[in-house]
Amino acid sequence: MPKRMENKIVLVSGAGSIGPGWGNGKACSVLYAREGAKVIACDINLDAAIETTEIIRKEGGNAIALQCDVSNQTSISKLFKEILKDHNRIDVLHSNVGIVEVGGPEEISVDSWDKLIDTNVKSLFLLTKYCLPIMTKNRKGSIVAISSIAGERYLGYPSASYSASKGAINQVIQNIAVQYAHKNIRANCVLPGLMDTPQIRHYVKSGYSDSSDEEVMIKKRNEMCPSGEMGNAWDVAYASLFLASDEARYVTGQKLVVDGGISSQIG
Ligand SMILES: NC(=O)c1ccc[n+]([C@@H]2O[C@H](COP(=O)([O-])OP(=O)(O)OC[C@H]3O[C@@H](n4cnc5c(N)ncnc54)[C@H](O)[C@@H]3O)[C@@H](O)[C@H]2O)c1
Repeated sequence: MPKRMENKIVLVSGAGSIGPGWGNGKACSVLYAREGAKVIACDINLDAAIETTEIIRKEGGNAIALQCDVSNQTSISKLFKEILKDHNRIDVLHSNVGIVEVGGPEEISVDSWDKLIDTNVKSLFLLTKYCLPIMTKNRKGSIVAISSIAGERYLGYPSASYSASKGAINQVIQNIAVQYAHKNIRANCVLPGLMDTPQIRHYVKSGYSDSSDEEVMIKKRNEMCPSGEMGNAWDVAYASLFLASDEARYVTGQKLVVDGGISSQIG
């Protein structure tokens, strides 16, 4: 049986993890590599990207780590120059970077609104701006953007900038899907629900969450899920793998919800 990503070159943004354990970008990178892809793991924190590539190499996979701030055009431009030195194509762009802020317009500062929108949305714009010409030349490509159910509905606590950023991601992806369909380039979103990743603990520690106590926050998030527990980074990774792979060759412009049913329940 051939592996599902054999001979594919996959660029993952935010391929590290913000804390110990499995973040979405890290799990996706490792899963792509397990399925035969060469992973270009980029992260603003080079050590975090290296940690992911070391896991991949220890498992016998193929990966390189590159530093990049995906919200900054100069940094993105350097990243693509570096990639194109050794590679003539990118088969899959996996746009994972996303930061969180809890609050509404009164709580969110103007600076942090700008930072979040740049990090979550401008990053997708820049990555696709540089990646689409490469995919067009190769007459093939798949883009997977990590969005959130927050882009579609209220999460149970205010998160105006985060929700706005994820809604924008969904629309950018839908636009690209239609505009590039005839070029054999697909674009889809994964919409995770409440996932237990290092990110949620990080934002509690930084005082960003609606609850300052980690255990209270975890309990609350588990209780909000119909199954009684949050999903994890591997749930996001397997959904992403399907969308990235040729198995999804006729799937484009879609929002694949991975939320254990939370967005299907009433109230
Ligand atoms: N955990 C959840 O409950 C949940 C739910 C829905 C969606 N998501 C989404 O999943 C994604 C996060 O996944 P994760 O667990 O890998 O996150 P994470 O917070 O662990 O971050 C992954 C990496 O992104 C890097 N990063 C941050 N800013 C960057 C920048 N400007 N340029 C390059 N790299 C940068 C960090 O250094 C980190 O190593 C986000 O898009 C988030 O919105 C998470």
